[in-house]
Amino acid sequence: MFRSFGAISLATLASADWPTPNWHGCVDPKALSLPYCNTKLSIQERLDDLMSRLDRNDKIRQITPDQKLGGTCTTFTSGKEEIGLPPWLWLVESNTGVDAACPAEGHCVTNFVGPMGIAASFNESSWLLKGQVLGTEQRALSNYGASRFHQDHKNPVCLTGFGPNVNIARDPRFGRTSELAGEDPLLSGTYAMNMVKGMQEKDAAGHKKIAAYLKHYTAYSTEANRGHDTYNISTFDFFDTYLAQYKLAFTAQPAGVMCSYNAENGRPSCANDFILNKQLRSWKPDAHVTTDCGAVNNLKGPPVNAPDDAHAAAMALMNGTDLEMGDTLFSNLSQAIDMGLATEARLTEAVRRSFQVQFEVGRFDPANSTEFHRYGLQDINSSLHQQISYEAALQSFVLLRNDGPVLPIRQGSSVAVVGPHSMSRSQLFSDYAAGSHCFDGTDACVPTITEGLRTANAGGRTVSSMGVEINSTKADGIPAALEAARNADVVVLALGDDRTIETEGKDREDTALPGLQESFAHKVLALKKPTILVLVSGGPMAIDSLMSRSAGSPYAIVQAFFPSHKGAEALAASFFGKENRWGKLPVTMYPHKYISEQPMTNYDMSKAPGRTYKYYQGQALFSFGYGLSLTTFKLQCAQKKAPTGKLAVECKLSNTGKVCGDEVIQVYHTAVDIGKVDHPLPKRALRHFQRLHVPAGEEATVSFDLPTSILEVVNKDGEQKLYPGKHALIFSRGEVDDEQRFEITVPAIEAGTWHVATHPPSQSMLYVILLRQAFLKKAVYLPDWLGMNREDITYLDDFLRITRGGDGSLFILVKEDAAGPDAGTREKLKKESGEEVVQGSGAVRWISTLGLGS
Ligand SMILES: *[C@@H]1O[C@H](CO)[C@@H](O)[C@H](O)[C@H]1NC(C)=O
Ligand SMILES: *[C@@H]1O[C@H](CO)[C@@H](O)[C@H](O)[C@H]1NC(C)=O
Ligand SMILES: *[C@@H]1O[C@H](CO)[C@@H](O)[C@H](O)[C@H]1NC(C)=O
Ligand SMILES: *[C@@H]1O[C@H](CO)[C@@H](O)[C@H](O)[C@H]1NC(C)=O
Ligand SMILES: *[C@@H]1O[C@H](CO)[C@@H](O)[C@H](O)[C@H]1NC(C)=O
Ligand SMILES: *[C@@H]1O[C@H](CO)[C@@H](O)[C@H](O)[C@H]1NC(C)=O
Ligand SMILES: *[C@@H]1O[C@H](CO)[C@@H](O)[C@H](O)[C@H]1NC(C)=O
Repeated sequence: MFRSFGAISLATLASADWPTPNWHGCVDPKALSLPYCNTKLSIQERLDDLMSRLDRNDKIRQITPDQKLGGTCTTFTSGKEEIGLPPWLWLVESNTGVDAACPAEGHCVTNFVGPMGIAASFNESSWLLKGQVLGTEQRALSNYGASRFHQDHKNPVCLTGFGPNVNIARDPRFGRTSELAGEDPLLSGTYAMNMVKGMQEKDAAGHKKIAAYLKHYTAYSTEANRGHDTYNISTFDFFDTYLAQYKLAFTAQPAGVMCSYNAENGRPSCANDFILNKQLRSWKPDAHVTTDCGAVNNLKGPPVNAPDDAHAAAMALMNGTDLEMGDTLFSNLSQAIDMGLATEARLTEAVRRSFQVQFEVGRFDPANSTEFHRYGLQDINSSLHQQISYEAALQSFVLLRNDGPVLPIRQGSSVAVVGPHSMSRSQLFSDYAAGSHCFDGTDACVPTITEGLRTANAGGRTVSSMGVEINSTKADGIPAALEAARNADVVVLALGDDRTIETEGKDREDTALPGLQESFAHKVLALKKPTILVLVSGGPMAIDSLMSRSAGSPYAIVQAFFPSHKGAEALAASFFGKENRWGKLPVTMYPHKYISEQPMTNYDMSKAPGRTYKYYQGQALFSFGYGLSLTTFKLQCAQKKAPTGKLAVECKLSNTGKVCGDEVIQVYHTAVDIGKVDHPLPKRALRHFQRLHVPAGEEATVSFDLPTSILEVVNKDGEQKLYPGKHALIFSRGEVDDEQRFEITVPAIEAGTWHVATHPPSQSMLYVILLRQAFLKKAVYLPDWLGMNREDITYLDDFLRITRGGDGSLFILVKEDAAGPDAGTREKLKKESGEEVVQGSGAVRWISTLGLGS
């Protein structure tokens, strides 16, 4: 019924200039006369009208997949013909490329290097551009009438994009590690923030290009027993690791999240008041929550064992989930409301949020009201998008070793490419790479690593021989591969794994190279040829025995993750020294023994042996942030005088080598000596990073103006806390010997606990201002790192102090639980100012920089 609806609208209203996007609203004459289609009204007024035209069952249909339209995981929701509302398709995957069938020859969607690789670039512009490309291509697919799986128009690409996926790469065994942007919350949160900005770029009329959803909220990183697994997660770990990256990404206001399969402390993510209502909606009150596929049905099993469909549906809805995916238990919400398990008001709220997302992308505005509707086939795999994807790939490889140096390879050499990834095509993609890579449905258009190197090695000889497969005991290809290697000047040894080893639904049991790869590698290295080991994998591999080789045999190691469509070309440009734009490890490479020391089900980040660079107590094979270049760098930093509440450091990065190159300055905080605390402390934690390009022999200067809040750590209650004592900021190129370290002492404050916060409520601001006017000047407190003069200090009383910063701004300290001014003082203040002064009470506990001026 509604399929033909789409066809009618196309026939009657589409013009060559302004195609009607898939399942666009307010096209049908029945709709056009209604207020919800009246663009002169505000979105809220239009939503009021639309909601008023839906009865309870209509509403339920808006948040329950309609099986008649297609697979429930794809999540079609029905329209309502009487009011000219077409159906909608929600689930368009958008983690690596827009997952859609190739609409036309030469115009398959642009795939990016896997998220682990793009994270390795530590480059915000690259992430923003990726988001823009995905947003543009999804819009173009929708305008063009493209479909998700086949060009049958049964699964129209709409404008809700599911990705980025920013689960923390907690354990190298997690089968979906290839989808993730590394192990650090700041890194993956900054990646997601930029990608969301790009995807949701607005047109002049304020429409978002597409709506972005973050996946999988939260603490999801085990495939075994998926959907019924629960993990013990402390408040500390929630705020330090499992919520932090989402919170950061929400500064870009994505449409919402997909809640994850797992449970935290017995509460499934899709029925979890704490993570949905308390946390998520403190970042965005109307954040839209969709379940992962089948997550509502899972509630009928452990850990919560909902007795029936109605209870499961109510549990999800009432804890903050708005849209079901993968099953139709929400169709029981009417019974649930009658039974008193759910409320009509909450149902209405969920439906309203779903429509709000659609209004924001312009679904109910005329197709020609946005410049995005000009996007078409020409914008899918455009040369601009190919270039952006290529540049992202160039910055995604991590050079871990370059003894000899082997790299760059001289053009015109004899190169043997051996190992299972020498010939791979589809195996160069991560999970959730866009569906069809080539128009004919094959991967034939994706160059292999050998083909990439051969093209770049003009005038030379490039041969390949796999030797062994990814995971088999077949050894009969080994002699030929060794022969090829023996006859070459340089050997490229392309090892790793693929989606048969690590993928959705399948965690790795072992982090070592599968099959015969490791023993094959030793045979190749024994030939004593200059060798480059290239690792193609989603998660890091434990290559303990391949870390080094006998002296005098040149050896390089490159982590290439899943390098995608442009990978081979980018790798070749990097190997032959045409480009020198390496990345840094976004994950720790653990030794092999790690998996026997660390249970997969342990979600406690700091419990020995610890997880990620922040807590791992052992010696990593290669650590987070590490990575070399074909040139050499030297880092020198100096602390500068800074305004109150800021820490200023200026770094000079010199390229001391002979070729231009990129480097990433990383800023870490570490608590050096803050006494005994009742919660874990990271060894170090990334607070800031900056990628720089420096020509050979030149230097780049970069100033870091860092807020003092970067000295705060998460405490056991999940709060950001500034501890008195010794702290340090470390400026690093990734654990190498020129790390620059600045110690900062936060003075102990006598009695009471003092807090730092950036947003004091206005009431306490008024109170502080008035006190400042009223009290006498008595100097007391001076933290050195604030860079202030003693004369600038104003003492107010025993619960409140104001100090003046170099820029004239005031630094205000208020003691925790201070009672505030007494009744007499309040009376006096009221007389002087004419303003009511409210009792401070326990709520007064801030330190902040306020631009009060003098
Ligand atoms: C992208 O376009 C180029 C030509 O510009 C073509 O060679 C390539 O096959 C196209 N890729 C896809 C996946 O459509
Ligand atoms: C979680 O904690 C409970 C109680 O301390 C314990 O019984 C259970 O084994 C823990 N679960 C995991 C996965 O560690
Ligand atoms: C919220 O979910 C929990 C399970 O996580 C469940 O026990 C509780 O009943 C739900 N709340 C409501 C109001 O349904
Ligand atoms: C849920 O709804 C289905 C039909 O939609 C019905 O067969 C089933 O009895 C309902 N279950 C409950 C518990 O209401
Ligand atoms: C948009 O299309 C409508 C008809 O569908 C037309 O009346 C209107 O002038 C168009 N506006 C622009 C800006 O092209
Ligand atoms: C690797 O191959 C072996 C032998 O065929 C098989 O038993 C094992 O399950 C495979 N490993 C993976 C991770 O698929
Ligand atoms: C960051 O990425 C963008 C896009 O690929 C690129 O133009 C820029 O040069 C990169 N910046 C650095 C410092 O490498």
